Amino acid sequence: MTQPIQITRRALMIGAGAVAAWAASPARALMQQASDAALPPAIEALLQRMSVEEKAGQLTLMAAAWAGSAANALNPTQGGANYQQQLDEVRRGRIGGVFNGNGAEMARQMQQAAMRESRLKVPLIFAADVIHGFRTVFPMPLAEAGSFDPDLAERTARVAAVEATAAGIDWNFAPMVDVARDQRWGRGVEGAGEDVLLGRIMAEARVRGFQGRRGLTAEDAMAACAKHFAAYGAAEGGLDYNTVDVSERTLREVYFPPFQAAFDADAATVMAAFNELSGVPATANRWLLTDVLRQEWRFDGLVVSDYTGDFELIDHGFAADEREAAKLAFLAGVDMSMQSGFYIKHLPGLVEAGEVPVARLDQAVRRVLALKVKLGLFDDPFRRIDPRRERTRVRTRAHLQLAREAARRSIVLLKNDGDLLPLPRSGKRIALIGPFVQGQRELIGPWNVYGSDADAVDLLTGVRDLVRDPALVTAVDGSGIEEALPGGIEAAVAAANAADIVVLAVGESQGMSGEAQSRTDIGIPAPQLALAEAVAATGKPMIVLLRHGRGLVLEGAVRDAPAILATWFLGSMSGPATADILFGMEGPSARLPVSFPHATGQQPYHYAHKNTGRPNPTGPRQPYKAHYREAPNAALYPFGHGLTYGRIAYSALEGGGTLSAGGELTVAATVTNSGSREAVEVVQLYVQDVTASITRPVRELKAFRRVTLKPGQSERVTFTLRRSDLTFIGQDMQPTVEPGRFRLWIAPSAQAEGVAGEFMLA
Ligand code: BGC
Repeated sequence: MTQPIQITRRALMIGAGAVAAWAASPARALMQQASDAALPPAIEALLQRMSVEEKAGQLTLMAAAWAGSAANALNPTQGGANYQQQLDEVRRGRIGGVFNGNGAEMARQMQQAAMRESRLKVPLIFAADVIHGFRTVFPMPLAEAGSFDPDLAERTARVAAVEATAAGIDWNFAPMVDVARDQRWGRGVEGAGEDVLLGRIMAEARVRGFQGRRGLTAEDAMAACAKHFAAYGAAEGGLDYNTVDVSERTLREVYFPPFQAAFDADAATVMAAFNELSGVPATANRWLLTDVLRQEWRFDGLVVSDYTGDFELIDHGFAADEREAAKLAFLAGVDMSMQSGFYIKHLPGLVEAGEVPVARLDQAVRRVLALKVKLGLFDDPFRRIDPRRERTRVRTRAHLQLAREAARRSIVLLKNDGDLLPLPRSGKRIALIGPFVQGQRELIGPWNVYGSDADAVDLLTGVRDLVRDPALVTAVDGSGIEEALPGGIEAAVAAANAADIVVLAVGESQGMSGEAQSRTDIGIPAPQLALAEAVAATGKPMIVLLRHGRGLVLEGAVRDAPAILATWFLGSMSGPATADILFGMEGPSARLPVSFPHATGQQPYHYAHKNTGRPNPTGPRQPYKAHYREAPNAALYPFGHGLTYGRIAYSALEGGGTLSAGGELTVAATVTNSGSREAVEVVQLYVQDVTASITRPVRELKAFRRVTLKPGQSERVTFTLRRSDLTFIGQDMQPTVEPGRFRLWIAPSAQAEGVAGEFMLA
């Protein structure tokens, strides 16, 4: 295996000698070729007039200090500067931008300070975390990935950009494109789940949505930031911020492709991850940030650190002090430092001492200025700052309709025994039970700076709006999320007994997923399980609605309920969208973007695992095979799973034969809906390379298609496989493809048989 080229601390630490070597190196020449954006002459002239301190200021990004900014509240590690002090820093050219600020008025004041009172009048850039909507909140990104619909993801990202830019935001710290295969890790909520192909497709769609299709100068375009580079999702034990030690092959096959897809879609920026990567923190990882990103991929945008990422090099045990941390991060390739203030504090001294070359400083500043140029900020620094648009462009009827559509299309029907769903809109007494059925709380998800639960619609409201007689609907909490409610179970059982149907909403609070929210048990908290047992014991038909930021483990009465819907955190229109699906106003059409394992101890579990030398064939567990004592090496509900209100069957596979070099192979299956309701089926094509010089996963998703089938309708679904679809990273670390036998499945999930066959690659 090729080892990453790693610059040792020592080599980077010591002054001019090392710097001179770096400056003269072919790597640097290449780096410049790949990434030194030519600035318009006037901006280049501006750069030439900047003092070293002003240059370091351009490379400094701070949480907005206005009235206790959102950023500091979210992540109080550092900071706390008051607003007047911050304005002063702007006037002195010591800040290049701020993030997670508070709207157009703040942006106007700060931009005025930069444009009227600073020496060189370089506009500020305003950044923010607009992860899944601004004031209109869309489903959490993991849920939305379950739509398997990049067009939907692009449309919601577009609306997020329209709303956010109206409040002055130029640059979005999204999309998060980390592949996440361990459900203990709480940040999976922000990404597209466990699969590489789905991750790539969603990354591209979200970048296109945020940046728009009219170029970044458009006043409603915001620069995207692919994050967190790289392999943040591979944290050991699913513990956020923890060590990552994965092979270069896994990086190239699994963790890099969504970033490459984001760059193919022209993502303007990328954020270095918090984690270390096989001993070298990503924030100071020159192999990652320069060799791969710049030289190999020719990325010419901006690299920003994560929040105090450079500061954390000290706790990583990689930098001795602040000064060294700044130097290591900067020389490795982090152009802009978020929130530590280390660049403004230390780069001038480091340049003065000859430990950081001016050329590198200029290169990084050029990238910041180039981004500001691309965003049109030099033409009109106030182009996105418009208090009128800020009021009128948010939460419009169309945006809320899209939020409802997106939420509906993110709901996964896991189980529907006896066709319990959809429910009739009249004639039945319905008891809504559980801590998630009523109240404007726990609706939008863990990562919203600007959205609010107070603006979102709950389940009770959604259901009462749809049924013919709202008086037949009752609601009881029954339990808190992590603690029992006095008398809660009794009240819930009484409500269940008085009803014909129970809808039980249980799961995780929004605080249980997201950043720093790792879990050792990915099940539903015990008090809610007790509630579920008691309600199930009434014998009433029970539908379970899950609220969650990750793939869950389901147990007892929750697992055994006849109908289960995965409803994640769905955003502003959570309740109405869930009601739409419950009552069949629209059928469920989403599929799981992450597998639901049988038990937490299986984590990290993902469908695209290897076969091992001792696979357990399907069926009973056999001795000395790869499985747990308590669970198979499989999921309870696998990636790709999701039912419809139709009755879907797969038949008539076409696909045997040989795929010739340079040729194509058509594979097809017939998908039939023999049910009495329209259904949207996500038809999935999986492949296994049976024998190769690098062992291959048991299945890999190669394509999918959403097909709408009326009752009784059949459709022939055709995919085209090309040689390039079958590449993997070979022993020499280069993409390769090897002739031989392949299995293929056209199937409704990663674990379902669907229709299966084989082909040969010549
Ligand atoms: C997160 C980033 C985020 C940043 C700024 C960090 O804690 O890891 O994803 O963009 O804060 O809010």
